[in-house]
Amino acid sequence: MLCAAGLAMVGGTITEELHSPMSDLFSLQGRSALITGGSRGIGRMIATGFLRQGARVYISARKAQACLETAKELSALGTCVALPHDVSTVEGAHALAAAYREHESSLDILVNNAGAAWGEDFDTYPEKGWDKVVDLNMNAIAPGAFASEMNKDARDNAEFVASRIPAGRIGVEDDMAGAAIYLASRAGDYVVGATLVVDGGVTHAR
Ligand SMILES: NC(=O)c1ccc[n+]([C@@H]2O[C@H](COP(=O)([O-])OP(=O)(O)OC[C@H]3O[C@@H](n4cnc5c(N)ncnc54)[C@H](OP(=O)(O)O)[C@@H]3O)[C@@H](O)[C@H]2O)c1
Repeated sequence: MLCAAGLAMVGGTITEELHSPMSDLFSLQGRSALITGGSRGIGRMIATGFLRQGARVYISARKAQACLETAKELSALGTCVALPHDVSTVEGAHALAAAYREHESSLDILVNNAGAAWGEDFDTYPEKGWDKVVDLNMNAIAPGAFASEMNKDARDNAEFVASRIPAGRIGVEDDMAGAAIYLASRAGDYVVGATLVVDGGVTHAR
């Protein structure tokens, strides 16, 4: 309701696209997405959700076999292509971009999901590293506990981990896919530089 009232106030500037059917609001039909770390865990959850919404999906990971197998499985849902590369090196990132360009001439959605569970100290975090991420005008998702290879705690002790989460459970595929689809679809086109916390209330409970 609040949104509707706000839009009404700028009446004359509302574009045709804003009047498109609600059923299309979360559609990714016609959009292409590149998801690093898409072979398993959270990246795979996002890839699955994007495919269900009609996107063409490209997934990357270092282990080629696992990446190819995931792409093959997810191809049951739509176009899913494996582009195995190591994105921790500049060469690897360039190679991934080149491989992607063999399939597509433009990129609609980039999900920089591949990561390691460590970070640089705040005091020494390089500005160029920050700029590189933020200059891409990227929204971010801050996940809570999702079962994965990286988060073995959530995977192997889901009940115990859930006992410390206000929502009473760990995150599941639909939670992550829903957040990513929102940011990547027309529904999220006017959301810029935001961080969507998807953690079952952990941050707010602190
Ligand atoms: N799971 C959680 O609860 C949780 C919570 C907060 C944040 N996160 C963040 O969410 C992201 C995904 O985590 P996850 O739990 O899904 O981890 P995961 O299960 O370990 O999956 C990581 C994915 O990234 C790929 N990858 C790792 N290093 C790579 C590299 N150098 N180049 C290309 N691909 C690479 C892995 O494949 P290969 O090993 O084959 O390369 C795999 O597909 C990470 O950034 C993590 O920090 C996760």
